[in-house]
Amino acid sequence: MSKFPYPKNDAATDAPLIDVIKKRWSPLAFSNKPIEPEKIQALLEAMRWAQSSRNEQPWRLIYATKDDAEDFERLSSLLTEGNSWAKDAYFLALGCTVPNHVYKNKPNRMAMYDTGGAISNIFLQAVGMDLVAHEMGGYDKEAAYKVLEIPQDIIVTAMIAIGYPGDESKIDQDKQKKRFDQHQERKDLPEVAFKGKWQ
Ligand SMILES: Cc1cc2nc3c(=O)[nH]c(=O)nc-3n(C[C@H](O)[C@H](O)[C@H](O)COP(=O)(O)O)c2cc1C
Repeated sequence: MSKFPYPKNDAATDAPLIDVIKKRWSPLAFSNKPIEPEKIQALLEAMRWAQSSRNEQPWRLIYATKDDAEDFERLSSLLTEGNSWAKDAYFLALGCTVPNHVYKNKPNRMAMYDTGGAISNIFLQAVGMDLVAHEMGGYDKEAAYKVLEIPQDIIVTAMIAIGYPGDESKIDQDKQKKRFDQHQERKDLPEVAFKGKWQ
């Protein structure tokens, strides 16, 4: 059991949804409590079983836990000041994409799309195991190539923080409220789902 209750910010959905979608949100409070190795294995396995164009599985993940201070520091050093809350999380990762098809080495237009899908699998698996997760585009991309020794032809996508829920009372209350409210802000369905043709 985590030290703190699972954060309650369930999506105010207009239709009944499965639990992991309803419960998922991106909180700012993370506990540094270790995640059990079998749960970490399950997070990675969830990525592995995502669907992908031509089954190329173009995603790659560089991850570290607080158990290895050097690895963790390498990843956490990339975060922008605004995302420093993520340093509390036990698990940090950077999602990467192999941009070309294996076959003929031509650009794979679906590579980023597939990687996003695989990361989504990780998030839903996390929520299903009472963990919280938050994605971040705010990190030093140039430094990432250098610090993590990523080949130049690879595309870096988002960083990911995963952990047990933390104490939300420790987060600046304005920021906390803004984050809480932002999660509930959704476009209306007719703005994003078109029946039959583009509208
Ligand atoms: C690719 C991507 C990049 C993001 N970058 C950041 C970030 O740098 N910092 C941050 O606090 N949240 C970041 N977020 C979280 C979004 O702000 C959040 O998902 C969005 O407001 C919807 O809220 P919810 O995830 O709680 O539903 C990012 C999310 C995604 C998918």
